[in-house]
Amino acid sequence: MRRRAIMVCVVLVFAVVFGAAHANSQEVLKYISSPDSAGNIFRVASGICPQKRNTRSAPTRYLKKKNPLPGSPENIQEGKLLYYKDAKPTACGLCHGLKGNGNGRLARGLNPPPRNFTCAELMDSISDGQMFWIIKNGSKGTAMPVHKGTLSDKKIWQLIRFIRQFAN
Ligand code: HEC
Repeated sequence: MRRRAIMVCVVLVFAVVFGAAHANSQEVLKYISSPDSAGNIFRVASGICPQKRNTRSAPTRYLKKKNPLPGSPENIQEGKLLYYKDAKPTACGLCHGLKGNGNGRLARGLNPPPRNFTCAELMDSISDGQMFWIIKNGSKGTAMPVHKGTLSDKKIWQLIRFIRQFAN
């Protein structure tokens, strides 16, 4: 009887220690670190909310623009295809992440990091027109590419309809 009680205790202690270690490694994984050119370790976006944001502001006439396309299933579906696969030069998801949290395959080491679209706190402060302008013209001095020559206005608005879903 006593032996059994000891066994139960041992198992419980293991469960707690292992569980804590596991939770901890998950926490660390959220901030995949990689050395920069100077050998310093720095953090990558992944899920940080709200992110520090120094993105240039769009001209006023853009800032006020509202998405002219309805959030219909068709528009969201088109945006989704572009996001994951069809957008040129690079599918958005490769940087912004399959879950939209800024932790895509190519995000590692990018400084500034890709926007975390799941962060409602920050995304609510970014207007449709601001997003449109950055997607079209890129964000100078960052990895965010120019899409002027590869995406029609309609496709950009569809992408915005899709991107907004991540913070819902
Ligand atoms: C090569 C990586 C990369 C790809 C591909 C990429 N982005 Fe980005 N994106 C970034 C980075 C980095 C930022 C942050 C720029 C900054 O801080 O100014 C960003 C920022 C943004 C923002 C935030 C603008 C703002 O005002 O805060 C939007 C919206 C956006 N990207 C949409 C897209 C869409 C849509 C696509 C695909 C058509 C895409 N991105 C493809 C790296 C990428």
